[in-house]
Order: sequence, then C-alpha cells, then structure tokens
Amino acid sequence: MEKVAIYPGSFDPITYGHIDIVERALEIFDKVIVAVAHSAEKRPLFTTEERRKIIRTLFKDNPNVIVDSFKGLLVDYVAKTNARVILRGLRATSDFEYEFHMASMNRSLNTHLDTLFMMTSKDYFFVSSRTIKEVARLGGGVEGLVPDLVTRRLKEKFKLPIPKKNQIGWDD
Ligand code: PNS
Repeated sequence: MEKVAIYPGSFDPITYGHIDIVERALEIFDKVIVAVAHSAEKRPLFTTEERRKIIRTLFKDNPNVIVDSFKGLLVDYVAKTNARVILRGLRATSDFEYEFHMASMNRSLNTHLDTLFMMTSKDYFFVSSRTIKEVARLGGGVEGLVPDLVTRRLKEKFKLPIPKKNQIGWDD
C-alpha cells in the first residue's frame, strides 16, 4: 500500500524550509500531499488559490507531490484521503508547544492519525513565512530563503519593482 503523508500549513508563502521538509519526506513516503489551509483568520497575504498555484508550479516536475487545499478541521480533511500521517516541520523548541498542542488535539479528534515531526535543516531554522513577508515588505532581500518565484510574487504584492526579465504571469 502506498505510504502517503499530509503536509498541512498556511504556506503564506512557501519557503525553502517547507520545501526541504517535502523533499526529505519523499525519502520516507511514496507521496506527499501539501495541503494549503485557507487560514482566513490569519488574514493571509496570498489567497488560497495563489498559494496553491505557487506550490504547484514549484513541484510541477514531481508527480509524487500533490497540492491541495482545505477548509475546516484538518482531521476531517485527512480522513477523506488515504493518509494517516500528518507531517510538520519543527524549527526550534519555540515551535514545540504549539505543535504539541495541535498534534494532541488532532489525535484526540481522530485516534487513527499520527503527527510526524521533522527537524528543519540548519540552513532554514530561522526562516518563517511571517519574517519573510516582513523583510520583503520593507524591501529586504529574501533570495536564498524562498524560491525566485516567491520573491517575485512578494514584490508584486508589495508593489516593489521587479526586473522585466524576471516577470512571469500566474499561469506560466
Ligand atoms: O503553517 P501554519 O499556519 O502553522 O499551519 C497551521 C495549520 C493550518 C496546520 C493549523 O492551523 C490547522 O490545522 N488548521 C486547520 C483547522 C484545524 O484543524 N484546527 C485544529 C488544530 S488543533
């Protein structure tokens, strides 16, 4: 039977930290479903569809990465798939409490599910979508921390200049 993991998150936007987790998870699982949460209460910078499109473009050459989105409870979404593992990245001990509560709550909602944690690679342990957005909004460089496509999308959102040769449409 195929081993499938669900990697849920806001991905607003996806960073190299997230991508690193997906790539390492693919060494353990046959398929990884990247599940973009609507997270409306977090007032995301990118719409769900924009976040999904970015991730789909980045993994377009990897058929083992499926990109989807969900609304409502994560456990309800997972129950509709053939996965029973929720994958989360841990950057530092500061992530632990939140993740521990979330994993415990999800397990109490559905005892069939487990959360698997992977430590973020040392190169990305300080990278978060929140700080990436803040730095980009203030005109700082985020190259090397997010894919070029994300850098461009951030510049568009914050109406910062993009070199003409780097411009691409949403459907490219
Ligand atoms: O990238 P994030 O914002 O840390 O991801 C958090 C996410 C989306 C995984 C979490 O908020 C979630 O699962 N939301 C869906 C609603 C839900 O199931 N909440 C109960 C979890 S305790």
